[in-house]
Amino acid sequence: MWKGRFTRPTADLVQQYGESVSYDWRLYRHDIAGSLAHAKAQLSAGLLTREEFEAIREGLQGIRADIEQGNFSWSRELEDVHMNIESELTRRIGAAGAKLHTARSRNDQVAVDTRLYCRAEIDRTLGELRAMQRVLVDKAAEYAGTMIPGYTHLQRAQPVTVGHHLLAYVEMFDRDADRLGDCRRRVNVSPLGSGAIAGSTINLDRHAMAEELGFDSITENSMDAISDRDYVMETLFCLALIGAHLSRLSEDLVLWSSAEFGFAILSDAHTTGSSLMPQKKNPDVCELTRGKTGRLYGNLSAVMVAVKGLPLTYNRDLQEDKEPLFDSFDTVSLALRVNAEMLAAMKIDTLRTRTAVGDPMLLATDLADYLVKRGVPFRSAHELVGRAVALSVSMKTPLDQLTLEQYRSISPAFGEDVHTVFDLERAFRLRVNPGAPSFANTQNRIDFWKNRLS
Ligand code: ARG
Repeated sequence: MWKGRFTRPTADLVQQYGESVSYDWRLYRHDIAGSLAHAKAQLSAGLLTREEFEAIREGLQGIRADIEQGNFSWSRELEDVHMNIESELTRRIGAAGAKLHTARSRNDQVAVDTRLYCRAEIDRTLGELRAMQRVLVDKAAEYAGTMIPGYTHLQRAQPVTVGHHLLAYVEMFDRDADRLGDCRRRVNVSPLGSGAIAGSTINLDRHAMAEELGFDSITENSMDAISDRDYVMETLFCLALIGAHLSRLSEDLVLWSSAEFGFAILSDAHTTGSSLMPQKKNPDVCELTRGKTGRLYGNLSAVMVAVKGLPLTYNRDLQEDKEPLFDSFDTVSLALRVNAEMLAAMKIDTLRTRTAVGDPMLLATDLADYLVKRGVPFRSAHELVGRAVALSVSMKTPLDQLTLEQYRSISPAFGEDVHTVFDLERAFRLRVNPGAPSFANTQNRIDFWKNRLS
């Protein structure tokens, strides 16, 4: 399709090196949609007769149907999805097919296809994120009152609930959805009509083509339009960050399902065994999610590095954006679906969580707060409770079982009611500020999310 000036055929290795149809065939639906909008504008501009337009329309629809039924043979010699479809169209309908590429280049064509692909995939990902949030909210509701230790530095810190912990991820995935939605605004701009670099002397109605394809607006600079891959990088970043959140959740579940923690019981359907050790039940889904997140970061950095040194405008390097882009969408989609399914089936061992959260050390900060409420400056209160902790450790006596006299020996600021601090229910009741894990707050947030996600 571009061999007019060439006297020798492309070398086999070059063909093998440069073809993209083995993966960009996946853009066929968007490529055909773009061609239909383009043909329609050609008809309006009087470049095609009604008959020619109809032939193109029917031809492209036939090709789409054949591709969908697996009856289309892709040819590597034709390099990419664009030339495969166009050449098959011309083979089927003759001269009219050869008019389709008027005032168009593969440079704006691939930009249109990739934007349409991103838009469709973003919409699908948004649905999968919402489904993941729903599962987390349901699980949070199921274990809203199940108290567990919260950790900093992976050391027991303060009591929280499974509900509060899981709702933290609902917030993360909500930011992810928000970010993807924002990214979608910049994706949904039509470059069609930008041609190879400088538009065309044949002027098609760019606004009409954009509207036909559901774009919100058109690009305003032809050189930017065909060399811009910001939307690819931005999309890849959004996906990488979803990966980061999934990966942290995975790490929590790896810990929770270990014998050491024993908080979570993953279902047999979502764990695997060992070929050697009969007792093993491994959280492979979590580990794979953690591992695949590395790929998501890699895909982002692959495209960012590929773009950074390119002079304006189109350079063939840009073809390298597709495999990372496809891979990230595929990876995130599967990760969201399998993790949602695994979480829905997950159970919490409330016997184990009760034992763990029974550690009175978790309320050492509450004890300092108690002293503050009795007029002790926080720094002094911290110091006094630190001494109580040291006494508890050295006497091998749990913090809540030190006697009033022992507390008083540390400071007279400890009152007769000191032991009420170790009532866990009370500890939760007091944490009423927005964002803190009181049962009422957690329930409010669950109601908020249920409403929002319904
Ligand atoms: N397969 C190419 C890509 O994905 C399409 C654009 C090719 N343009 C060109 N002038 N060779 O980037």
